[in-house]
Amino acid sequence: MARLYFGSDHAAVELREHLAAHAREAGHDVVETLGPATADEKADYPDVAKALCAKLTAQPGALGVLVCGTGQGMAITANRIRGIRAVVCGDTFSASMGRAHNDANVLCLGARVLGLGLAATVFDAFVAGSFEGGRHQRRVDLIDG
Ligand code: RB5
Repeated sequence: MARLYFGSDHAAVELREHLAAHAREAGHDVVETLGPATADEKADYPDVAKALCAKLTAQPGALGVLVCGTGQGMAITANRIRGIRAVVCGDTFSASMGRAHNDANVLCLGARVLGLGLAATVFDAFVAGSFEGGRHQRRVDLIDG
């Protein structure tokens, strides 16, 4: 089971809460949920992404899920932080390959792109995935090298 942090801006509060509940039901450890309590409370996605990534880099092995309108702003911000490898996914193949080949530790999803059901399925593929290592480790090392 995964140790998970969830974060969203105002555009994705519903999706964040849906995924956190889905994760708890599946038996995952939802350590913390970051971002506004309601969609009326505006929050800037870079602030949420930075806060979540700071927690994640202090906890090797934990995974993050960052959701905003498109997932893009969260991913752009998260990928500036050393040790974070964030992928925007709209399908299960990308989600599992992001783990297997890129050792992704943050999944970014767009609440204005995916329905709740597909987002949960993509999330499931991401958390079920695992890094293959081997030749991919050398390539992942080159990202920060
Ligand atoms: C907020 O309106 C929106 O710009 C944000 O949620 C996200 O899509 C940015 O990447």
